[in-house]
Amino acid sequence: MNNNDLKTLLQDLKYPGIDRTIGELKLLGEIKVVNGVANVELLTISDESYLNVKKLIEESISNKFDSLNITKKNLAKKDANYGNSANPNNRAPYAKNVIAVTSGKGGVGKSTVSVNIAIALAQKGFKVGILDADVYGPNVPRLTNTDVERIKWNDDDKIIPSENYGIKIMSVALTTPAMDTPLVWRSSVAVNALIQFLEDVAWGELDFMVIDMPPGTGDVQLTVAQELPISAAVLVTTPQIVATDDVSRAVMMFKDISVKMAGIVENMSFFIAPDTKNRYDIFGTGGGEKIAKKYDIPFLGAIPLDMKIREASDQGEPPVALGDDEQKKYYQDVVENILANSEFNL
Ligand SMILES: Nc1ncnc2c1ncn2[C@@H]1O[C@H](COP(=O)(O)OP(=O)(O)OP(=O)(O)O)[C@@H](O)[C@H]1O
Ligand SMILES: [Mg+2]
Repeated sequence: MNNNDLKTLLQDLKYPGIDRTIGELKLLGEIKVVNGVANVELLTISDESYLNVKKLIEESISNKFDSLNITKKNLAKKDANYGNSANPNNRAPYAKNVIAVTSGKGGVGKSTVSVNIAIALAQKGFKVGILDADVYGPNVPRLTNTDVERIKWNDDDKIIPSENYGIKIMSVALTTPAMDTPLVWRSSVAVNALIQFLEDVAWGELDFMVIDMPPGTGDVQLTVAQELPISAAVLVTTPQIVATDDVSRAVMMFKDISVKMAGIVENMSFFIAPDTKNRYDIFGTGGGEKIAKKYDIPFLGAIPLDMKIREASDQGEPPVALGDDEQKKYYQDVVENILANSEFNL
């Protein structure tokens, strides 16, 4: 068996638990057969994946060679290269500006806001990409109706982002065998995946990279702040939690790591009755504005709690693209305020 025979054989092996071959996943490095010894180099970003593939290869071809020599070339960038938030690396030099959408708490509408402001920016003629950094609960693909797509590579070995509603989209949800596969990654693996999405995706030139952050203040948030020059952070909150410590903690974290805040969006702010269109301020008014004043950051807008926003979003029909004029305006106004309150490089 020569080099090419071995390569073909290995390329066609199926990665355990995934409907993809080792060749499709581009996990093979240099392959050489020398005097009955098979030398196989694997390109993997985690130890787990290396061990999985090594075992698979051992089981499949060890009877064909005198011995097997499997090595790994780690694609993950070394920790020593990590930047710090005051003077971050720039893993995305193709993006003129990076907007990070965050929240202290989960479930406040970060992903919905991220997707709609990304689309609103594209509607203004900007080139926009959205990166779903919520590696443990990715839902940008569902919100953009790209959730049936799976990962694809171009001829330069770069991942091709999905595209819909005028924006480019990348999410770990596109890399799992099915959308609902749970991701039980250690945080180091999640962080490496994120860096790969910044460096190995064919984003093209972007005016804005919008990042849908996971909730809270953990590893992924810090990585984003260390690896990317964030032009503006948008903090999403709801009236119920506007006065809670979670919001203060998120604001303080960004101040601590010297990330510029574009401001606060108050989501699910008031209720519009679907039948009468009457407005109900269930949680009182002005919470978001008060907190913005308290921390001396801009208030970017209030978006109502609207059944149509939820229904349409969950079907992958973003309100800013396919909703009525009123719904579009909520998000478009937020974008105008973000543009007015930040210094972007355009
Ligand atoms: N303004 C709104 N009116 C009605 N429903 C909304 C609104 N904004 C978001 N939702 C709904 O609330 C739910 C949570 O929103 P979303 O997934 O955007 O939150 P998140 O902060 O990203 O959550 P997570 O922390 O889980 O990532 C979704 O079902 C979404 O459709
Ligand atoms: Mg989310």
